[in-house]
Amino acid sequence: MLSDEFGREVSGVRVSLTDRCNFDCVYCHNEGLGDTRGPLEAQDDELSTDRVIRFLEVAADFGVESVKFTGGEPMLRDDLAEIVAHTPDEMAVSMTTNGTYLPGRASDLVDAGLERVNISQDALDRESFAELTQSGAYDRVLEGVQAAVDAGLAPVKLNMVVFEPTAGYVPEMVDHVVANEGLRLQLIEYMPELAGNPEWAIDIERVHDWLGDQADRIENREMHDRRRYFIEREEGAGEGMIEIVDPVGNETFCANCHRVRLTHDGYLKGCLNRNDDLRAIGKTAAEMRAAFRDTVADRVPYYGEYMIETEDGWEVNEEYLDSEGDRAPYTYSK
Ligand code: 5AD
Repeated sequence: MLSDEFGREVSGVRVSLTDRCNFDCVYCHNEGLGDTRGPLEAQDDELSTDRVIRFLEVAADFGVESVKFTGGEPMLRDDLAEIVAHTPDEMAVSMTTNGTYLPGRASDLVDAGLERVNISQDALDRESFAELTQSGAYDRVLEGVQAAVDAGLAPVKLNMVVFEPTAGYVPEMVDHVVANEGLRLQLIEYMPELAGNPEWAIDIERVHDWLGDQADRIENREMHDRRRYFIEREEGAGEGMIEIVDPVGNETFCANCHRVRLTHDGYLKGCLNRNDDLRAIGKTAAEMRAAFRDTVADRVPYYGEYMIETEDGWEVNEEYLDSEGDRAPYTYSK
């Protein structure tokens, strides 16, 4: 396994298969590329099936143990099942999706080798859901969650971004996963770094405190700096599990980051929040190997090293201001 200068092994890759999406979530950072929503039809800049598979083989050669497919909406790729099927056997395969295309396709993906799924579900009522996602596909998402459970993908993780517009729905989402075996809740602190609107952020510690009071049991996973809360289900039907992901300003979170990202158009990215270090993977396995090595070698923990905390808050460390990548950073336009 490759390690960066900060001793962080790279054990996972997150592969964006497209930046197209049928939703337009108000909070979306689009895997750190900002707002790039375009047409829904396949685009020329997207990595071909072959290049994605070649990249995964290179990653597996470097000892990478897991891949998460993401987007945009990864299920907009018609070749998704083919890609999953050709992912090296030694890698665990998961996907993050908005769920709308899971009905009718979840089983095929499981047959191809998909092991786990995260589905974005930020609210439990149709209206707020439509407002947040700028779409009305609420029922379709619920069907998608059910399709995933039925296809054997339980526990299905529901991703809920916690920020001003959703914070009030946390209690009912918690009740929802406690009442439904097969579901887990992942509360994700709103990350304004690339999505903008810092005023939407809420104090995630308040959520930790509230959940702490509700929980029958709390687990602290030192490795990931993620706290997990367990609430007992009725009549001995096990426990509901809620996890909080709180990366903002969190040095420990960055110190435990073990993944690199591949953009839909073929650039490696050492950190979600940075776009100044994008590196083209090229076409051949040899080029991909070199790009992978270089990306890992250049990786810098975002909080604590790239951004340093001063009396005035977090500031960019001068040392990293001049880093140059292959591709001009996206500008955010929302
Ligand atoms: N802050 C926190 N989480 C986000 N996601 C997308 N944008 C943001 C953001 N600005 C999460 C969503 C989605 C996953 C791919 O990333 O939960 O499911």
